[in-house]
Amino acid sequence: MNLKKLCEISEKPEIYEKGDAFMWDDEYISKKLLEIHLSQDTDLASRKKPAIEKTTGWILERLGKENADILDLGCGPGLYCEIFAGSGHRVTGVDISKRSIEYAREKALEKHLDISYINENYLNISFEEKFDLIVMIFCDIDVLVPVERDRLLDIVFKALKPGGMFIFDTMNGETTGIMKDGERNWEVSETGFWKDSPHMALSESFHYPENNVFLNQTIVFSEPDEYRTYRFWMNYYEFSGLRPVLEERGFSGVKKHENVLTSDDFYCGSAVTFYETVKPERII
Ligand SMILES: C[S@@+](CC[C@H](N)C(=O)[O-])C[C@H]1O[C@@H](n2cnc3c(N)ncnc32)[C@H](O)[C@@H]1O
Repeated sequence: MNLKKLCEISEKPEIYEKGDAFMWDDEYISKKLLEIHLSQDTDLASRKKPAIEKTTGWILERLGKENADILDLGCGPGLYCEIFAGSGHRVTGVDISKRSIEYAREKALEKHLDISYINENYLNISFEEKFDLIVMIFCDIDVLVPVERDRLLDIVFKALKPGGMFIFDTMNGETTGIMKDGERNWEVSETGFWKDSPHMALSESFHYPENNVFLNQTIVFSEPDEYRTYRFWMNYYEFSGLRPVLEERGFSGVKKHENVLTSDDFYCGSAVTFYETVKPERII
């Protein structure tokens, strides 16, 4: 690759411009991701077991219902679904990663749990008044650009029974104290997270403060002229910004909950706010 091209592709992109690669359903990377989901050494991909137990306990308390129909969007390997099903609820999990869904199905069979797993993009699903509770955990809503976020909210609204509840978490304003514009990292490796062959990965964070968004970008070079760009847009929200978005889509009773998680970890501490909102019993 010539260096002029390298300079061009490393520049700060326009806000919400997509990369040309997606890691979650990649044949090789999804294998690495499954290991990270299940690891008890890191809060990446999925939080560790104590945080998951605390979160599910808190969610079920907010739900306050037995034998409910629950949908988990971006369920990964089913760590939350299993706890919900083990508490007597009927659970559906949706995830785009074939590898995670296959693992989750195997575990549900082994443990005789009533969980239906669907390998699908949650932006393409369509349920009607089927669920008492829908959850989306690990700040997954933050990675959606606004048009996708609104589409997802419409899908959730339609899928909830009247009176049904939507619970999700987001990064809040504390993100700016943790992530930094221009932070860079590089890695050269024969085999690693991104590829099972020699490669170089250049990572950089960009801040778009007017829009409350960070971009984490990694460009992975595997041959002199071959590269893939992975972009993770990370919106962080304040209550005053997100509540109107939810209300515009028809949700009501929007509440935020701080400190549901208590660890010092970036993805597991006070920079994470949980939201709870309902589909009204009667739509006016
Ligand atoms: C950060 S992980 C969280 C997994 C799970 N919620 C947890 O906390 O254990 C994000 C999950 O969302 C899934 N995902 C990402 N984009 C998706 C999409 N468009 N449709 C369905 N699943 C998606 C990924 O495969 C991954 O399992």
